[in-house]
Amino acid sequence: MSPAPLTVTVRVPAKVNVQLVVGGLRPDGFHDLANVFLAVGLHDEVTATPADRLRITASGPDAHQVPLDETNLVARAALALAARHGIEPRVHLHISKDIPVAGGMAGGSADGAAALVACDALWATGTTRKELLAICADLGSDVPFSLVGGVALGRGRGELLEPVEVTGTFHWVFAVADGGLSTPAVYRECDRLRAASGAGHTAADIPEPQPSPQLLAALRMGDAAALAGALCNDLQAAAVSLRPALAETLRVGTSGGALAALVSGSGPTCAFLAENPEAAKSIAETLRASGTCRKVRIASGPVPGATVIAGCLPEQPA
Ligand code: C5P
Repeated sequence: MSPAPLTVTVRVPAKVNVQLVVGGLRPDGFHDLANVFLAVGLHDEVTATPADRLRITASGPDAHQVPLDETNLVARAALALAARHGIEPRVHLHISKDIPVAGGMAGGSADGAAALVACDALWATGTTRKELLAICADLGSDVPFSLVGGVALGRGRGELLEPVEVTGTFHWVFAVADGGLSTPAVYRECDRLRAASGAGHTAADIPEPQPSPQLLAALRMGDAAALAGALCNDLQAAAVSLRPALAETLRVGTSGGALAALVSGSGPTCAFLAENPEAAKSIAETLRASGTCRKVRIASGPVPGATVIAGCLPEQPA
């Protein structure tokens, strides 16, 4: 048996939802989704090191926005895994943060999935993929996708993943807003807007969400123009209602040459699909010059999910 490592680093990507169809409000407070996730190359890293107790630290330009208590999904992941195996969560988890915080790109979920993989390797607990996915689903609706990465369809509240066939790489620009948006608040606003329109907002009123055949075909063919025509996010109206300035960001990126623009997940990050890497650079310049966002990032995807990138093993006796 190989010895347990002394430290483990896991790299984990952000996501953009290329299709987020939101069903009605369920009795448990969640919404059924047809949620097509695509992992993009903006990454956080979580490093697990043995410690006398569970401890969390964070670094990176937005580290001050990261909670360092047990509300952080990295802590909840470590506690859940330790409980599963009947051990103490004696670990220091360091988050090197590059994914926008509370930006609708699943940064918190990504860190939870990464912490789970890192602790499983550090503690040599050998948890099966199926068990890891079940723990991820308990941690949050987007966490299983952060574990698997690539492209996937999330049914249920987003945690029940099905594979999606994809060809090639899609190029994206992300406009990061000042301040985050609360996911529950955006879902609540979506319900409010639906009720106000007279459509009703419960699971009895809204049809069961289904993935779009055009969107799945565009992904299968690797056709960016067709994907642009099929992108959709039912939470966009709610995010723009809560943060009206996003409408201008979306407009600037579109007039700057994006094939399409949409709010990423529950926002407030806006995502712009570009025809190629050169177009992405030019859209990014336009967005930067416009002053309609705090930061602009370029990333492509799909990319793999949570992956161990470094582990330091104890020295073996000669
Ligand atoms: O699963 P997660 O903890 O990320 O969900 C955060 C909140 O977002 C939920 O408490 C709920 O208000 C909302 N949500 C929802 N329907 C989903 C996913 C999340 O209403 N499918």
